[in-house]
Amino acid sequence: MRPSTLITNIPPGLHVAIIMDGNGRWAVARGLPRAAGHRRGAETVRTIVEASPDLGIRTLTLYAFSSDNWRRPEREVRALMRLFRTYLRAETKRLLANGVRLTVIGRRDRLEIPVRSAIEAAEAATADGTTLHLRLAIDYSSRDAIAAAATLAAGSAGGPLTAQSLSAALGGADAADAPAPDVDLLIRTGGERRLSDFLLWECAYAELWFSDIMWPAFSAADLAGAVADFHSRERRFGGLVAQPVEAPAARAV
Ligand code: FPP
Repeated sequence: MRPSTLITNIPPGLHVAIIMDGNGRWAVARGLPRAAGHRRGAETVRTIVEASPDLGIRTLTLYAFSSDNWRRPEREVRALMRLFRTYLRAETKRLLANGVRLTVIGRRDRLEIPVRSAIEAAEAATADGTTLHLRLAIDYSSRDAIAAAATLAAGSAGGPLTAQSLSAALGGADAADAPAPDVDLLIRTGGERRLSDFLLWECAYAELWFSDIMWPAFSAADLAGAVADFHSRERRFGGLVAQPVEAPAARAV
């Protein structure tokens, strides 16, 4: 990635990443189809996006569809893709009004054209947003992203591959995305305690916060609780002295 593309119009602040798990179980527990859980999950996305800036969050990355999710029944995949398209089309105005810049990370070549078009339109419309950088991970695999970034960085560096050049290339594997800072706080809802191939490189020093709450029931207060817990932690980045939560070393990506 060229150095000029590292410049972003989003001021520094917390980067929170969320594995939004539990839509299906939330729905099944209520006798509803899984798709209803995903729809309710989309409403939670709106709530969390709107609550983020006041909590000092400047980058929010949401795991919406992993590359492994293609293994789900075709019907569920279709419902999710339809939901992404609807969300992108319906929310763009609102995102724009709230100063949110939306980008999508992950592969695009396997997405249907209407989904890709909705992504491109939302990205273009919100490109000047400065309040929050919302990143949706769709058809995303961290291992694939790291492999692609390594190829990109090795091809353009003309020198040895470094952690810094790889970090810079990670955001740039997809032309539409810009590099994001390292993740400060990783949240996973739904009771599982694993990373599921999400932002493995960017989470090198992330604080982890697991919640048993299913994503459709996750609230702005729950997010505030996770952020408050994050602020109570001591981050040493491998050293001995506690660093402020926005440690400069973690931002130099
Ligand atoms: C995992 O929970 C969740 C997903 C695979 C989809 C995430 C999608 C949303 C939150 C919907 C809306 C998103 C946007 C960006 C509009 P799961 O369904 O696997 O739940 P389970 O573990 O209970 O089965």
